Amino acid sequence: MNDFEYYAPTHVVFGRHSEEKLGELVVAAGAHKVLLHYGSGSVKRTGVLDRAKQSLSVAGIEYVELGGVVPNPHLSLVRKGIELACTNKVDFIVALGGGSVIDSAKAIGYGVANKGDVWDFYLRTRKPTACLPIGVVLTISAAGSEMSNSSVITDDSCGDKRSCNTNFARPIFAIMNPELLYTLPEYQTACGTTDILMHTMERYFTSGSTMELTDSLAEALMRTVLDAGLIVTSDPTNYDARAELMWASSLSHNGLTGCGGDGGDFVSHNLEHQMSGMFDVAHGAGLAAIWGSWARYVYKDCLSRFVRFAHNVMRISDTTLSEEDIALAGICALEDYFHRIGMPITMKELGITPTNKQLHEMARQCAKVNGGSKGSAKLLYEQDFLAIYRMAL
Ligand code: NZQ
Ligand code: ZN
Repeated sequence: MNDFEYYAPTHVVFGRHSEEKLGELVVAAGAHKVLLHYGSGSVKRTGVLDRAKQSLSVAGIEYVELGGVVPNPHLSLVRKGIELACTNKVDFIVALGGGSVIDSAKAIGYGVANKGDVWDFYLRTRKPTACLPIGVVLTISAAGSEMSNSSVITDDSCGDKRSCNTNFARPIFAIMNPELLYTLPEYQTACGTTDILMHTMERYFTSGSTMELTDSLAEALMRTVLDAGLIVTSDPTNYDARAELMWASSLSHNGLTGCGGDGGDFVSHNLEHQMSGMFDVAHGAGLAAIWGSWARYVYKDCLSRFVRFAHNVMRISDTTLSEEDIALAGICALEDYFHRIGMPITMKELGITPTNKQLHEMARQCAKVNGGSKGSAKLLYEQDFLAIYRMAL
């Protein structure tokens, strides 16, 4: 077991009608003027935006609005948001949406609270020293940005997708009403289920030491997500299943399922970020498309974890199999699951066909953003990234 710090300062307000508390939470945070930030229209259609405005007005909070965040959020809109927030002397940002809106809010928060170009923090040439405080009304269970330290932004002038991870950006509060998930398209629900699973799997598949309590929490979370993810595909308004997924989304990426570990693997995420940077695919679907290839590439170097995963998460109980076959059966079982919820397991199924040049470019970029190598299940280099991309075609 490794030493660790666990920092989860976000005030979670969970349950039916919880979004009505937005105004009082903003007042309690000491804010006076808010930037209301949202996506491409779902919060207008569902009435979440109107309810948020109503709650802020009742609480006597002024606000300005900036919608238009797209999945794989753009740096150009972040720059617009920074200008708007500075001009209007905004002292708090409310993100109404999911990972993309929250990440865009975090980037705007960095841009307002620090001098210079915000993109430097994503290129990691400078470190931010602060972020405007952020509150969230969550409308999709997926990325876990509502409690995470991470913000992932794409420079839309060139498709370069980068992350900036600091504790300054962890939201002050996150409002989570599972009923707000009922309107999610089936595909987005499945993308979210995949991403939630993957945030814990990235921490779980490690060659380093771990702790039993964390492993057991991780396995319980993954089993719960697998079960709830299936329920909501046929019963999208099942409150309890939506609630399990919503809470799992936060716990899977707030650090809890990595305590005592070595920081995790995160190669699948890095491979996927290059895919969604270049081809603008949904993050969760990209993860499903690459994971099996990564797993088959590394499992022999991390066999005991893959065996444990097969037994304790994918419920493989055949005692006649060799350890290697159990590990492979676990990988196949998760790929079958991805298919059952409508996720791809190859790039072709994802709908992308990168050229040889593009595969090389993604592998090169993946190595570059990670200082040459990445991985805990197995340490991988540029040629390995390329081999995995090829396997995933
Ligand atoms: O834009 P609108 O109209 O709101 O539509 C969104 C969007 O098209 C829609 N949606 C959201 N809530 C809805 C809804 N539609 C109907 N009803 C609702 N209640 O869903 C679509 C996807 O939204 P998005 O925010 O993009 O999804 P997600 O939460 O999966 O975020 C993905 C982004 O987060 C990044 C990903 O790379 C990607 O850019 N990640 C962020 C992380 C973090 N900050 O910690 C970690 C992750 O690993 C990930 O990299
Ligand atoms: Zn993710």
